[in-house]
Amino acid sequence: MRIDILSLFSDMFVPVFSESIIKRSQKKGLIEIKIHNIRDFSVNKQKQVDDYPYGGGSGMVMMIEPIAACIEHLKSERTYDEVILMTPDGIVFNQMIANKYSTLNNIIIICGHYKGIDERVREMYVTSEISIGDYVLSGGELAAMIFCDTVIRLIPGVLNDETSALSDSFQNGLLAPPVYTRPAEFKGFKVPDILLSGNDKLIDQWRQEQSLERTRLKRPDLLD
Ligand code: ADE
Repeated sequence: MRIDILSLFSDMFVPVFSESIIKRSQKKGLIEIKIHNIRDFSVNKQKQVDDYPYGGGSGMVMMIEPIAACIEHLKSERTYDEVILMTPDGIVFNQMIANKYSTLNNIIIICGHYKGIDERVREMYVTSEISIGDYVLSGGELAAMIFCDTVIRLIPGVLNDETSALSDSFQNGLLAPPVYTRPAEFKGFKVPDILLSGNDKLIDQWRQEQSLERTRLKRPDLLD
């Protein structure tokens, strides 16, 4: 999968994408991430990327020309499955949506800032709009990082133990069961006996029950 991200704050991505699973998956050649600074595509000498809103009002609006120039440059080199806009008025991201995006080949992600993006960017280029929750961030960058992290770990080969993504919370519509490691007892708190029993069938059954119970207690809405 290739991910092209358009942002005014491209440096924000460097530390996050050069650590852990995202770093490894790039090294393995499973994903390619390119960050583009929208300012580099500005069409005027002042490198302007935003302007006052037509009709007045507070805040600045991101201009269409630099974003359009960047998207058109990318589209001239390959075809894209989706052009995604990170925005608080998009559909709310979840694991099911992440699964869908993990199967795509090439995607563009646009990070908004300031008051918003000239509406014509949505009309002309954007194919899906994604929010990471009902709150407003300073920009789409953190949202894009969360989107990428969630999607990338679902791509086959990214996680060493491929089954571990399948047992994540939400992957089967339920929260994940509790996990333990050594020591078997800590200050009187014991690991459940069943996990030390060596009986895989009973352990599986216990995990399913715990998963269901945890979901019932913490997120009953998921069972509706
Ligand atoms: N940009 C600002 N807030 C956002 C949100 N909640 N989700 C996605 N992009 C955003």
